[in-house]
Amino acid sequence: MTSSSFSSGAESVASASKIRTSIAGVPVAELAQRFGTPTFVYDAATIGERIASLACFDVVRYAQKACSNIAVLDLCRRSGALVDATSAGEINRALLAGFAAVGDPPPIVYTADIFDSDSLDMVAAQRIHVNCGSADMIDQLADRVAAPHVTLRINPGFGHGHSRKTNTGGEQSKHGIWHEELEDVLARARARGAVVSGVHVHIGSGSDIEHLGEVCGALERLALRVGDQVTTVSAGGGLPVAYRRGEASMDVPAYFALWDAARRRLEKAFGHSVRLEIEPGRYLVAESGYLVAQVRAIKRMGANLFYLLDAGFNNLARPVMYGAYHPMALAPADENPARGLREVVVGGPLCESGDIFTQDEGGVVRHEFLPEARVGDHLVIEIAGAYGFSMSSNYNSKPLAAEVLIRDGTPHLIRARQSLADLVRGEVIPAPVAD
Ligand code: LLP
Repeated sequence: MTSSSFSSGAESVASASKIRTSIAGVPVAELAQRFGTPTFVYDAATIGERIASLACFDVVRYAQKACSNIAVLDLCRRSGALVDATSAGEINRALLAGFAAVGDPPPIVYTADIFDSDSLDMVAAQRIHVNCGSADMIDQLADRVAAPHVTLRINPGFGHGHSRKTNTGGEQSKHGIWHEELEDVLARARARGAVVSGVHVHIGSGSDIEHLGEVCGALERLALRVGDQVTTVSAGGGLPVAYRRGEASMDVPAYFALWDAARRRLEKAFGHSVRLEIEPGRYLVAESGYLVAQVRAIKRMGANLFYLLDAGFNNLARPVMYGAYHPMALAPADENPARGLREVVVGGPLCESGDIFTQDEGGVVRHEFLPEARVGDHLVIEIAGAYGFSMSSNYNSKPLAAEVLIRDGTPHLIRARQSLADLVRGEVIPAPVAD
């Protein structure tokens, strides 16, 4: 199945006109009125479909860094996915969403290149399975847990991502155990009584099928070097999503076939079964998510017409960070949605010139054709479910947005918008120094 065969709510966006009046059957105007703006809206059905499309893998482990609201984690759990965590905070979220700490396969895996003290305490107390991206992690874990079973995240010497900043393989990446050091690290693990039962490779985010396919062969060779104690191999994440019309969609059966063949060869070599995991973030949630904002000002700067929204890079950092493209559509406030197209630049409220949603890598402003807008209309930024809310910030003392999950046509508030009081929680003015 390719993702083009999914319905992503496109029924309500007339793509040429770039008008969107509803999300998952709920009018945009109703969502905006009820929950305010900016608000992230997720369509539960899309997430369920994406998880189901990967059911050929033994384990679909959701990389929750993409979107870690506990209601989304709960939905993933109910849809049969397990979860990855990269901090004590993410382990805590997984536990709150109902994942057990321990099991076979482990419901929660901690994947990182370091332990901070909180994550080491959490992992040791809850006996969370660890995917180690550095040899130091093995030592630190073995100091706290007797004879731990661990997975090794290995950097195979090459990587690929949609941006240099999301390429996690090769010499310029800090991620994983360098492939040439594998035997040294295995000896170090053995000396500490740790059993390496899993091998994992993740070469980057927003990769393409060719590069992902290369991982398969690399991981097979690495697993053979570790030997028959390996019972699990993980293909990592990185599955691409088509942000632009015409971009290639994920061919899951072809990708699975590659991995399944490698897994079967390993099973033959080891004489026992080998579990095959996949660890996507973006693929499961990107297309489920929409950032609903309001057009607050429209102004011209010479040749450029700006639509200024109440959402900025505090809400969606991907354009300013990577020059990432997100499709957009207008939800007119009036009943007559017929509007001509305008060539516009779309920006946010922040006091920084880079607060532009239509920019290429390097900060070059790009124009977008969007319907003629009026102040008060809503603008929907699409395919915003992955690395949207989870990368948001309080820059310019902007409250974090609300999050809403639509299930069976009913919108549920799954995170209240922050209040002004939330913004200063924990801040203290020291008592004046006595004269
Ligand atoms: N596994 C590991 C170990 C990872 O580090 C990541 C992503 C994933 C899985 C999931 O990758 P995905 O399937 O989502 O591509 N903020 C960037 C993406 C950073 C990805 C970080 N690690 C963006 O907005 O494009």
